[in-house]
Amino acid sequence: MCGIVGYIGEREAYPIILNGLKRLEYRGYDSAGVALYDGTHIQVSKTKGKVADLESRVASEISTQGKLGIGHTRWATHGVPNDINSHPHYSNSGDLVIIHNGIIENYASIKQELLNRGYTFTSDTDTEVLVNLIEEIKKQHNVKLGKAVQIALNQVVGAYAIALFDRNKPNEIVVAKLGSPLAIGMGDDEFFVASDATPFIEFTNNAIYLEDEEMAIISKRKGVKVRKIKDDSLVDPYIHELALNLEQIEKGGYDHFMLKEINEQPSVIKDTYRGRLLADRGIIKLGGLEDHIQKFLNADRIIIVACGTSWHAGLVAEYIFEDWARIPVEVEYASEFRYRNPVIGEKDVVIAISQSGETADTLAAIKLAKERGAFVYGVCNVVGSSISRETHSGTYTHAGPEIGVASTKAFTTQITVLTMIALRLANEKGTISKGDYMTHLRELEMIPSHVAEALKSEPNIKEIAHVFMDAANFLYLGRGYNFPVALEGALKLKEISYIHAEGYPAAEMKHGPIALIDEQMPVVVIAVNSNHYEKVVSNIEEIKARKGKIIAVVTEGDTVVRNLADYVMEVPRTPETLSPLVTTIPLQLLSYHIAVMLGKNVDQPRNLAKSVTVE
Ligand code: G6P
Repeated sequence: MCGIVGYIGEREAYPIILNGLKRLEYRGYDSAGVALYDGTHIQVSKTKGKVADLESRVASEISTQGKLGIGHTRWATHGVPNDINSHPHYSNSGDLVIIHNGIIENYASIKQELLNRGYTFTSDTDTEVLVNLIEEIKKQHNVKLGKAVQIALNQVVGAYAIALFDRNKPNEIVVAKLGSPLAIGMGDDEFFVASDATPFIEFTNNAIYLEDEEMAIISKRKGVKVRKIKDDSLVDPYIHELALNLEQIEKGGYDHFMLKEINEQPSVIKDTYRGRLLADRGIIKLGGLEDHIQKFLNADRIIIVACGTSWHAGLVAEYIFEDWARIPVEVEYASEFRYRNPVIGEKDVVIAISQSGETADTLAAIKLAKERGAFVYGVCNVVGSSISRETHSGTYTHAGPEIGVASTKAFTTQITVLTMIALRLANEKGTISKGDYMTHLRELEMIPSHVAEALKSEPNIKEIAHVFMDAANFLYLGRGYNFPVALEGALKLKEISYIHAEGYPAAEMKHGPIALIDEQMPVVVIAVNSNHYEKVVSNIEEIKARKGKIIAVVTEGDTVVRNLADYVMEVPRTPETLSPLVTTIPLQLLSYHIAVMLGKNVDQPRNLAKSVTVE
């Protein structure tokens, strides 16, 4: 995710853009930049860091004059965060300048063609490729900027919200959208462009939200002309009247970032496998893995190191890797691993999982593993983070910034990445049948719609939350693939509601926690279809015999557990191996609603930090 802003009108553009970027910083904050047209030149200032860093840099670098401009706050996807990779990006001639939110998947082949034609590139970004493709088309076809953008976008695969202008025609901004959001604020003889309406809310209440595959030419004289990118046909856009306040818009209309992030999961899981999973063709292709696949195939074992929720994702991965790829896996708390003189060899592969990429213990564990000769692979969300730089290679989760301290979308996207790695290795090793492999690729592609379906149970989950909000303790039980989900469900509840909760393997309950069960004790049991279904049913019977209150996560259509449980939360049917991606959803919602009902600060729970950079 990135934030984009633009202005064209009679006011000074810079203060509007700067303020807009500050409001969009929740969308990304690793670098920022502006391009202003001062009547003669385009002036660009950009920097790694936050919008505040940009502000100090602009003051000493460029004049802030100009009534046309664009700005960007970045959350890197291609190229580490640094000054050069920051947006805006110029075309080779210096005529065009662009900002982009999204990913151009086929940028490498386009870049090669442009290199063959003599183009040069200063950054590692896909965006610089796009602006030069537009420039090349503009020259080749001898067309105006809008037409060149339309032709270019018909050649790219990926997602984008872009805004660009041409110094030779500085009375218009061209914008386009596919996958990433883009709003146009409609003032009197002035127009605003932004990723959401927050940057222009005090100037106008009227906005056009571009639909996918639409572009617009925004000109001071002619207003806004919206066209379809595919066939160039004119669109009569709907002008929305905005009724939201600033804070509501930043949170996408949700009350909390956590709830927004829970609801983003269908789309971010798709972003995670976009361009990497081609189910119809039986292909999984992960950039960071391809050059190192032999290391994984020859590995004696895989050691996963992580903390918190990321450690839970690692536990799910243990089941998947051992089941499919038949590679022994150990999952370690990074904080323990780094201090216990672990036996690590050159044939060990260490996978470090971290949303932030900054967790001190995980970073230290990586350094130790490297010192002892292991190959270290990262699964991080934040591009250019310390862990992503410290590891030998890795895969980004592309979940977008996670603001809520309780991790939600990071967990499911980490599992998505690890599932793809395991399937790729299993297929390569021949430890999974072709049929099973293909089925799982297709099933993985169905997960976003299953997650969307699971989210629809929110009203029911809210009612259950209301019944149990005053409980002093919770027990969470699951077996096999869903044991780590039980741990994660308990952690979510603890983190944000401060209710004591324990996650346990369902069968292990007999060796201790069963002593806690009485009629006051809610027990959340993950009882979806699986190889252990009957065993879980027996565990439920054991809880019932002690009068515990059962809240069960069941597969839709289940009747057996439904008859036994006090409350059920349904999820769609998936293969057991992929079930953690959906069973975790009702548990996130349950903890969220209990915390809200208890009046807790859901996004910033007491004593916790989003990124723990101390040991
Ligand atoms: C903190 C956060 C957790 C997170 C853990 C690991 O405790 O509050 O949500 O799971 O750190 O963070 P990482 O960024 O390494 O995944």
